[in-house]
Amino acid sequence: MASNTIKQLQWRYATKSFDPSKKLSEEKIDLLKESFNLTATSYGLQPLKMVVISNDATKKDLVSMTMDQKQVAEASHVLVLCIESTITKEFIEGYFDRVEQIRNTPRSILHPFESFLVASFSEKSHNNIKTWMEKQAYLAMGNLLTVCALEGIDACPIEGFEPKKYDEFLDLANKGIQSVLVLAVGYRAEDDFFSALKKVRRGTQEVIIDME
Ligand SMILES: Cc1cc2nc3c(=O)[nH]c(=O)nc-3n(C[C@H](O)[C@H](O)[C@H](O)COP(=O)(O)O)c2cc1C
Repeated sequence: MASNTIKQLQWRYATKSFDPSKKLSEEKIDLLKESFNLTATSYGLQPLKMVVISNDATKKDLVSMTMDQKQVAEASHVLVLCIESTITKEFIEGYFDRVEQIRNTPRSILHPFESFLVASFSEKSHNNIKTWMEKQAYLAMGNLLTVCALEGIDACPIEGFEPKKYDEFLDLANKGIQSVLVLAVGYRAEDDFFSALKKVRRGTQEVIIDME
């Protein structure tokens, strides 16, 4: 018998049609916010923010910037996964401030790693850092997709949108961030044709290499 986790991963699918009358409760949205914040990130730096949109008019306006994908209008909420515009020395120091405060670790113990990270980021190009941050956004997306599946929340991960238009429309530059991915969340429409389709995956034996 399939475990509950596998059952839920089979249950989930990239939802194409949401029931606009079914809204996620405050508790479910809070759970997604907390799950986003608990995502593992490289060095623990969390170069990410998530914009949560529930306003119907705003969601409707997003459709034309999302390759006309109506999921963003019909879903209960649209989550926009964003990266920082840039990583400054102060941003890295902020992480070590939290470690010092939350774990009561003396700064002198943290200092060698802190200086290493500050120096290492100062040597990287902007593009290099941007690519690194985007990878963290994809991790957050994967984490949220799994959490949604386990919580019985329908979701559609969306790469098919125009980030520059989202950034302008949502005034993200003024918040020091830029959009990378979109996740529409809510509840599937009963007549979503895609919900009944079988999963298309390579065989497990094809993608897994067991080594002695
Ligand atoms: C990073 C990423 C971006 C995606 N972008 C879109 C998208 O823009 N529109 C869409 O309908 N589905 C999108 N998908 C959904 C995939 O097509 C879908 O996950 C894949 O076909 C597997 O099907 P399943 O998720 O229903 O099992 C995206 C998935 C991922 C992981």
